[in-house]
Amino acid sequence: MALIAGVDRKGLHMRVTTSELNLRKKRGEKWAMLTAYDSMIANILDSAGIPVLLVGDSAGNNFLGEENTIPVTVDELIALSRAVVRGSSNAMVVADFPFGSYESGPEAALATGIRFFKEAKVQAVKLEGGSKVVPQIQTLIAAGIPVMGHLGLTPQSVHALGGFKVQGRGDDGERIKADARALAAAGVFAIVLELVPEELAAEIAAELSIPIIGIGAGKLVDAQVLVWTDLMGLTVGAPKFAKSYLDGRALIADAAKRWADDVRDGAFPGPEQTFH
Ligand code: KIV
Repeated sequence: MALIAGVDRKGLHMRVTTSELNLRKKRGEKWAMLTAYDSMIANILDSAGIPVLLVGDSAGNNFLGEENTIPVTVDELIALSRAVVRGSSNAMVVADFPFGSYESGPEAALATGIRFFKEAKVQAVKLEGGSKVVPQIQTLIAAGIPVMGHLGLTPQSVHALGGFKVQGRGDDGERIKADARALAAAGVFAIVLELVPEELAAEIAAELSIPIIGIGAGKLVDAQVLVWTDLMGLTVGAPKFAKSYLDGRALIADAAKRWADDVRDGAFPGPEQTFH
């Protein structure tokens, strides 16, 4: 069954909800989440029926030209989230909490969540970390802000983790399982599991009743997420777990080159693009 955004009590259109995603898990129906950082792409992905759009802090390296996600600010992600909300109408839009906007405690997390809700009008937020961020998660949920968790390779901790490596191999798997249980008990509506062994992801997905969204976590989970520029072949040096379905860089470069050639040869503008 396709996910369909519903109506609220006044009969007004509603985007995809957390309960719909939960129902999907109960029915064993897998779904896909993609990142989006602007309104035009959000509109295309929303029209394609992608039920959840993540305004990831991966905007840092995929949109803002940063080396990684760490320098991304709340102001930057609020502007991008607002654009993604404006460009979409069915998808649930989830905004990532940037590094530095929630770690110090529940008050900081609530202040960040309120800004994303009021200024960008997203439907949920995502933050990285396990048991340590449970107080933040509980405070956000108590305020009516749905939270998505993120475990495994958490890119904001790339320096502490010693690089972009598979997490949760061997005994370390127990730590990630304990964190997943703690997040679920705190009330997150879904958890992203990044770069962990497939077996570990499968055990967590089988144990917990909330959707587990994998990225580099194998296929035995409830949903998959990818960075949209990786999917479209736009990223230089995309991670090994990503698969591109389009040679976007080559297509765009070719179009730009053909147009520049036409300009040079006097073939653009033609009669259709010219006014008298
Ligand atoms: O920022 C992001 O794009 C993410 C996904 C990789 C899950 O957190």
